[in-house]
Amino acid sequence: MSMFLEKIQRRETVVGIIGQGYVGLPLALVFTEAGFPVVGFDSDLKKIDALGRGESYIKHIGADRVAAAVATGRFRATAAFDELSGCDAILICVPTPLGLHREPDLSFVHGSARDVAKRLRKGQLVVLESTTYPGTTDGEVLPILEATGLKCPDDFLLAFSPEREDPGNPKFHTKIIPKVVGGLNPPSTEAAVALYQAAVDRVVPVSSCRVAEASKLLENIFRSINIALVNELKMTFDRMDIDIWEVIEAARTKPFGFTPFYPGPGLGGHCIPLDPFYLSWKAAEYGMWTRFIELAGEINTHMPRFVVQKTVQALNEDGKSIRDASVLVLGLSYKEDIDDDRESPSYEIIELLREAGADVSYCDPFFPVARPGRHHDIRLESVPCTAQAFEGYDAVVVSTGHRQFRDPALYTGVTLLVDTRRIVERDAVPGTRVVRA
Ligand SMILES: NC(=O)c1ccc[n+]([C@@H]2O[C@H](COP(=O)([O-])OP(=O)(O)OC[C@H]3O[C@@H](n4cnc5c(N)ncnc54)[C@H](O)[C@@H]3O)[C@@H](O)[C@H]2O)c1
Repeated sequence: MSMFLEKIQRRETVVGIIGQGYVGLPLALVFTEAGFPVVGFDSDLKKIDALGRGESYIKHIGADRVAAAVATGRFRATAAFDELSGCDAILICVPTPLGLHREPDLSFVHGSARDVAKRLRKGQLVVLESTTYPGTTDGEVLPILEATGLKCPDDFLLAFSPEREDPGNPKFHTKIIPKVVGGLNPPSTEAAVALYQAAVDRVVPVSSCRVAEASKLLENIFRSINIALVNELKMTFDRMDIDIWEVIEAARTKPFGFTPFYPGPGLGGHCIPLDPFYLSWKAAEYGMWTRFIELAGEINTHMPRFVVQKTVQALNEDGKSIRDASVLVLGLSYKEDIDDDRESPSYEIIELLREAGADVSYCDPFFPVARPGRHHDIRLESVPCTAQAFEGYDAVVVSTGHRQFRDPALYTGVTLLVDTRRIVERDAVPGTRVVRA
């Protein structure tokens, strides 16, 4: 152990990071910037090649940062997993999606654990970072690693440390976001805390992997439930002709005991729509029904249908039918100003509009061409983000609040704007009817 800690002090610990995506790449940069030698592992050769050229494939992670990391000579990316044996610490940042029936899909975590196990050697620290249910690190990863004959903590160390990211938020980034760390045993916690402390500003040790796993889920469940609450209130206040946005603006002036959450067209991203179900699935094993999680899931997944219903109703009021109506959907990203469209509700909105017979186009400066996802393939290209291109549609539906969409001048030729993100005030564009949805 003391050797492990000394190596950290000298910045000689070779940090291997499996998965160079939205979580793994910034983490690799933070460790490189802290002076460590870092190897990024990924099975996607396109990513490895891009990193080799010093390029970034994630817009909010600037190419200059990647290029600077590569230029230090301390960061490189590879798909040669045998190089894991040369790493002193291995951080696993692979996807944890849901299966078809909303069950956890741990195949990536199992795969990475097996990749590590094949090369596991004495003295290594392994940390799982992927979001998952409590009991994954000790119940799923540990047995795979110990099947090698090596034991924790005598031979290797094992911990869980969840990632916290707010993509596109310039105020928060990996280095300054506090990092929760829970080891399988005290030596594992001590080693993992020491490693992260050398790279990020604040580390928060907890008593076990399970507490660390559960804390991440609590954070995401908290968001999912609060977003569901405002979405339900949005639909309720809509019937009462009250604007939920104005209500939230008023309520948030309370200087204590209130945190504003905003309604939208549904949940997106790789975290909030998925992670809560990791817990509800596991809770069943303990005879528990996580009713808040289920209810929030039900309300949030209904949102794209609500948006489409509001569009149909608004067209009807204009004397038009959704069948053969031309509808432009603004935004494919699940969140404003980022190029991440995973689980984006825009796709369901587009599909529901099409099912109803509408002729659908989209505009998203982050996605000139819509790429096929796990659940959809809309086969469209973005229309330009100009007032001219927006003219003539029977309805324009705002799904993502990108900064580019916030200019009221874009909508001078638009008769009906269905706005799920409050990108313009109701009376901002003369001649345009703005319907909140
Ligand atoms: N995106 C976020 O904001 C965020 C925030 C907190 C936590 N998380 C969690 O972090 C984990 C990773 O999420 P992400 O957003 O970085 O996903 P991602 O899809 O952006 O990145 C995962 C990377 O892993 C690679 N990969 C897949 N299988 C692999 C394998 N067997 N070996 C090596 N590489 C492999 C993929 O090619 C991809 O580059 C998930 O558990 C997620 O829930 C994500």
